Amino acid sequence: MKFISSKAAFAMVMLPALVATILMTQSCGKSGDVDSLYRDPSQPVEARVNNLLSQMTLEEKIGQLNQLSMPYGEGAFENLCDAVSRGEVGSLLNVPTAALSDSLQRVAMDSSRLGIPLLLARDVIHGYKTVFPIPLGQAATFDTALVKLGARIAATEASSDGIRWTFAPMIDIARDPRWGRIAEGCGEDVYLTSVMAKAMVDGFQGDDLTSPSSIAACAKHFAGYGASEAGRDYNSTYITERQLRNVYLPPFEEACKAGCLTYMSSFNDNDGVPSSGNKHLLTDILRGDWGFDGFVVSDWASVNEMVSHGFCSDPKDAAMKGLTAGLDMEMVSGTYIRYLKELVEEGKVSIDDIDRSVANILRVKFKLGLFENPYTGTPQSVKYDKAHLAAARQSAAEGTVMLKNDNGTLPLSADIKRILVTGPMADAPHDQLGTWAFDGEKDSTVTVLDALRDIYGDKMQIIYEPGLGYSRDKNTAGIAKAVNAARNADAVIAVVGEEAILSGEAHSLADINLLGAQGELIEALSRTGKPLVTVFIAGRPLTIAKQVEESDAVLYSFHPGTMGGPAIADLLFGVVSPSGKLPVTFPKSVGQIPVYYSEKNTGRPASGHETLLNDIPAEAGQTSLGCTSYYLDAGFGPLFPFGYGLSYGDFSYSDLAIDKSSYGVDDTIKATVTLSNNGKREATEVAQLYVRDMVGSVTRPVKELKGFKRVTLAPGESTQVTFELPVSELAFYGLEMERKVEPGDFTLWIGGDSDCTLSTSFEVTQ
Ligand code: BGC
Repeated sequence: MKFISSKAAFAMVMLPALVATILMTQSCGKSGDVDSLYRDPSQPVEARVNNLLSQMTLEEKIGQLNQLSMPYGEGAFENLCDAVSRGEVGSLLNVPTAALSDSLQRVAMDSSRLGIPLLLARDVIHGYKTVFPIPLGQAATFDTALVKLGARIAATEASSDGIRWTFAPMIDIARDPRWGRIAEGCGEDVYLTSVMAKAMVDGFQGDDLTSPSSIAACAKHFAGYGASEAGRDYNSTYITERQLRNVYLPPFEEACKAGCLTYMSSFNDNDGVPSSGNKHLLTDILRGDWGFDGFVVSDWASVNEMVSHGFCSDPKDAAMKGLTAGLDMEMVSGTYIRYLKELVEEGKVSIDDIDRSVANILRVKFKLGLFENPYTGTPQSVKYDKAHLAAARQSAAEGTVMLKNDNGTLPLSADIKRILVTGPMADAPHDQLGTWAFDGEKDSTVTVLDALRDIYGDKMQIIYEPGLGYSRDKNTAGIAKAVNAARNADAVIAVVGEEAILSGEAHSLADINLLGAQGELIEALSRTGKPLVTVFIAGRPLTIAKQVEESDAVLYSFHPGTMGGPAIADLLFGVVSPSGKLPVTFPKSVGQIPVYYSEKNTGRPASGHETLLNDIPAEAGQTSLGCTSYYLDAGFGPLFPFGYGLSYGDFSYSDLAIDKSSYGVDDTIKATVTLSNNGKREATEVAQLYVRDMVGSVTRPVKELKGFKRVTLAPGESTQVTFELPVSELAFYGLEMERKVEPGDFTLWIGGDSDCTLSTSFEVTQ
């Protein structure tokens, strides 16, 4: 069983007493003849690693490479304690309580021969108790400081239960919303994902790794997992070396630069090589090119799965290929603990390879200060701290994107008499938490309905008719009631979307239209002629062209977490102006996928004047002249481009200027633009800078994001926004597969989304 039930968690509370008994009956393992230099924190980390390594038996070394999940069942706990005291476990995931974490650490410290602490891990992906928006929603804030704060809060809360390692950030570039795991990452863009990767690593790991609230980050899934063919989870990928280096790897390199302590190998095989056995990735690039000195953990059982891939003949072969490729720690499938000794004895795995991996793991344990402070050091009271809830509310508000606002429908006036709240996501506390929210609790979650009642219940009549029971509900019986209620209301807020379970790992969809009868609900509400505000709460971009058309205003919130309700209420009534921007392109239809802004121009780019299906006469003769790259039925553009999002202000950009027309490769480009808020309300805009390298040794994307800034302006206010872009940031892997800036002509844009048109040009000389 991968994750524990709350019943099992309750039972676990009883286990620490058992540990005390085990500790009493076992003789203390640490013998007097151990050279204890490694226990001295004043020694340099490398000296401690080497000292400890030199005293370990082969079995103890292999034990460090072994990660287990918390086991359940008769006798399982006793067996686990025995294994820990024999030094056969390096790390555990999903230990459910602080008491149990401390008890297990006590076994490792006091009962194993060398007293090596365990590294306790869990998937703390977007919050622990206080759940923040799913990472896709946090990316939509374009607010790195807030994302860093979210990770810091998650680390603080998680560490109060003994967790010192999270399997995050997930920084897979994803350009296919069918893929359920698009929810877990920062979307389609290389730059946005890279800066968010750094923010999250900084937040999780904190300023001082040895602090009890610092937890090791894990950059995952290394690499290319987001390109799974047809968006089907676990599917193969076919990423060329150049695309890997230009698109999929930069966020991982950024994480490395930020000091990320661990990486996780991905499930996919890229061009035939599963990541867990990919030496090129795990050793040549990660260690050779980037100088990484932490450790790599496999994804869940992905070492053993190399047998299913048809890459290894049996689990023993998988252990050999994993370890020799540079995969240090194996998550749960146990091939290392079963076969590495034999493989060493047979001369198929060298002791140097084993030592290297063990050293990588010990180094992280020393850096985290675990030898000195293995026990929980953060108080329980940090959970749901007021400041944490306030930050989660801000994150949910900043991460919600306004896609439409005809005739100033939003913000709603607080003087309104009667509103209808409807839709299956309006009061869905479990579902608004999104995927990977094991520790979030629905009883502590505030829904849109809760928040509206709480904040506005005494000022206006709030009618609630859900219309449908849950997002997949096809029973239309409740729709008529919602429609009747709408007729008596001054405005309708329909909250629709996806339950949490419909995105995330192993939850891909072939069709991303609104599920169940939600489309019928919106259509029927729209026919009432009442102002219709549709709020989407979902784990991915959905194909919502029809519902956008039928609504007067649209807010899109990627599962917004614990405080999603108050955040959305603040936006609906204008307490906060929407400022979120799309971190991923919204397709018109599933057939357009993959569709992303930083595409190549092709030899026949669309001009915007394409012939569409209905323009073609019957029995038309075949022609190819003048034909361009687009769909007859869907045209060229998406429903909403990357970077798009409206506010309650009215922003315009003018006077774009750069400080020079020609730059050397070591220069920095200074670009300025005047940003004006011509609207009647204060609002925040995310100004975005894009570039295009016009001619390269290989073709270059039509636009690439290279910077952004959140700017708040009062009504009528203008300001000059300045970007500084080092020319070195224009480097890429060209024909010779070397990362460098290629001199030549560039175009630079600044605007409010990736469709922006205000541009200038410059050249780069040698
Ligand atoms: C997922 C990882 C996760 C791991 C541990 C795997 O199935 O792919 O993202 O960290 O399980 O729970």
